[in-house]
Amino acid sequence: MDFRQISAAERTATMFPLTSYAFQPSPWPAADEERYRERARFNETAVSLIAEEDGQALAAVAAYRLRQNVRGLVHDMAGVASVASHPSARRRGLVRALLERLLGQMREEGSAVSVLYPFRPSFYARFGFVGVPRYRTATFAPEGLGHLVRAELPGEVERLAMVDGFDAYTQLTHRLLEARHGFSVFDATRAEMFRDDEVWLAVARSEGEVVGAVRYRINEYGADLIAEDLLTTGPLGRALLLQFFARHVDQVARVSVTISTDEVPELWGTDLAVTTEGRVSHPRKGGPMVRVLDMPALSGTPVGAGDVTIEIPDDEWVGGVWRLSSEGGRLVVAKGGNPAATLTVGGFSALLYGVLDPVEVFTRGLGVLSPEAIAPLTSLFPRQMPYIFSDF
Ligand SMILES: CC(C)(COP(=O)(O)OP(=O)(O)OC[C@H]1O[C@@H](n2cnc3c(N)ncnc32)[C@H](O)[C@@H]1OP(=O)(O)O)[C@@H](O)C(=O)NCCC(=O)NCCS
Repeated sequence: MDFRQISAAERTATMFPLTSYAFQPSPWPAADEERYRERARFNETAVSLIAEEDGQALAAVAAYRLRQNVRGLVHDMAGVASVASHPSARRRGLVRALLERLLGQMREEGSAVSVLYPFRPSFYARFGFVGVPRYRTATFAPEGLGHLVRAELPGEVERLAMVDGFDAYTQLTHRLLEARHGFSVFDATRAEMFRDDEVWLAVARSEGEVVGAVRYRINEYGADLIAEDLLTTGPLGRALLLQFFARHVDQVARVSVTISTDEVPELWGTDLAVTTEGRVSHPRKGGPMVRVLDMPALSGTPVGAGDVTIEIPDDEWVGGVWRLSSEGGRLVVAKGGNPAATLTVGGFSALLYGVLDPVEVFTRGLGVLSPEAIAPLTSLFPRQMPYIFSDF
């Protein structure tokens, strides 16, 4: 068995048959392969690995290069995708071997963290990943936001084709990358893939500054306006975009929009009837999973007070004994000491990303903690839900 990295151009002959068989209706039309080939340029910076036997690719994995904000510190992040093996080559350890190579290479090249969307979380838990929240969807009739239709707000919303608003949109996502826990953006090469998407873009500005944006489409007169992530820098951006939705009253019956777990849509209007859903199912709608790849790279993360030593056993990249302390509100990661807690990579990653507290780490089977470890780990890593944004 040969394991090797392939170029973006080679993906069409090697990865495409594996991932199309795994993720698309099949057999697929010839045009799909042509389209995949045309889009190869967006994968120039991705790392793509295959396992090959007698010249035939039997398994594949890839990582996109992203940047991600984790508690205020922005890291290079490996977005794992295109994980598939040939049905006759499954359960032979090929994907394990590829994923281990991939994560090692991405860490070597600077990724401190990794994110993926699992078909089955327990599969990736074996590789140190732990779940974080899936986005929510708010669905409501625009009448419910009637109070906004004529409201005088200090700003305006422009409706653009994606291609015309792409730069403003990109600028906003980069601003949110600096500001928002969990937020991630693709590198420029892959981000280009979305420039020509056939969607509308509503861009909210106040005093010339972009304060919100949302991609959307309308599927039918009298039916649904389907919006993607409601991206805003704060309440004014949100109000401007909601006002824009409100002005579709009598044109669409419903608006559905993707939101983070910290949005509370029932507070958007007095008479607003709204359904807020977080739907997780497998294999298609899993919540994202995250893991840490590099402990020293976490130094400087904004944290609460505390000083504690933990051990992470059996992990090639973050295994060892680590003293975690806070200096001036910033995390200091140092080697060695006497551990007060033994955590899996997933357990530690859950604390860092703010999704579980130390007692939950224990009850979920992701670590064993002495009583004196609980208070410093709780104060160092207060609960804070990440919003991942990039989907791949
Ligand atoms: C999921 C898939 C990639 C696994 O590939 P594979 O080559 O069988 O994986 P491996 O043999 O390397 O198995 C790796 C580990 O996961 C375990 N595993 C494999 N499939 C599993 C499954 N469906 N559920 C839980 N564990 C599984 C293996 O037992 C092995 O465990 P170990 O190394 O700790 O002993 C393959 O079944 C596939 O292509 N499925 C369809 C596409 C898909 O769902 N891809 C994932 C998208 S996120």
